[in-house]
Amino acid sequence: MSAQNQAVNRKTVKDIMRAKGRTPLVCLTAYDAPTASMLDPHCDILLVGDSVGMVVHGLESTVGVTLDMMILHGQAVMRGSRQAMVVVDMPFGSYETNADQAFLNAARLMKETGCQAIKIESGTYAAGQIAHLVARGIPVMGHVGLRPQAVHVDGGFRAKGRSCAERDMVLAEAIAAEKAGAFALVIEGVADDLAEEISAQVACPTIGIGASVQCDGQILVTPDMLGYFDWTPKFVRRYGDLRGQITAAVQAYAEDVRARRFPGPDETYRLVKAAPDSP
Ligand code: KIV
Repeated sequence: MSAQNQAVNRKTVKDIMRAKGRTPLVCLTAYDAPTASMLDPHCDILLVGDSVGMVVHGLESTVGVTLDMMILHGQAVMRGSRQAMVVVDMPFGSYETNADQAFLNAARLMKETGCQAIKIESGTYAAGQIAHLVARGIPVMGHVGLRPQAVHVDGGFRAKGRSCAERDMVLAEAIAAEKAGAFALVIEGVADDLAEEISAQVACPTIGIGASVQCDGQILVTPDMLGYFDWTPKFVRRYGDLRGQITAAVQAYAEDVRARRFPGPDETYRLVKAAPDSP
């Protein structure tokens, strides 16, 4: 039975906030309905990340991802899940201008996908946007440290907080997001002691990716942890080898087709001869 036919009873912002300092939150990215249905029973949060641009659409960075792409993938993940909280990323260019732009685009994401919260990559400048959205009923997850949407300013995807000035900046970003009302914070690509300091200083749960085991939760990009790619960042642990399994399956299919072993009798329709009319 698909998730569509089962009762929907999702984790709420309050459930996620209560997890601070308790059992770590389990979070993964999701982009489509069937994968979401497999992840959903095991996860507290499914993030429809703008990483979709890179891991699904083959883009070089997340900069090219649009609001329409996020809506389409958000809708699919909502259809495939029923108990995890679903958070959808605001893509580059959809929230930075001012609070009004952020609200109109976040409201569109919430209305058209049905997701429960949005995430923004939150430099200190974004505190105004976060406060504006939260005050108007939109829960916001912040994202500090390595911010992939800033790849062109940073000159690549590089870990943050290596110098004292950079550490102070990342800490300031985290505190600004929390003070503005973020209900949770993703901390990406920072030294573990910085992630621990942030986790100790903010009241909301922190969710690490390339951060620290002491964060209040962990997230990975699902195709990375399932082994879709030959290369993954240092912080990814591979829990599967789907690239190897898919390659072997497709090779076997191609061999069967070329040798006329597929389709076989069980995979073929036969016309059943109609019984002769009785006299
Ligand atoms: O877009 C994404 O997948 C993310 C995660 C890396 C947290 O932001």
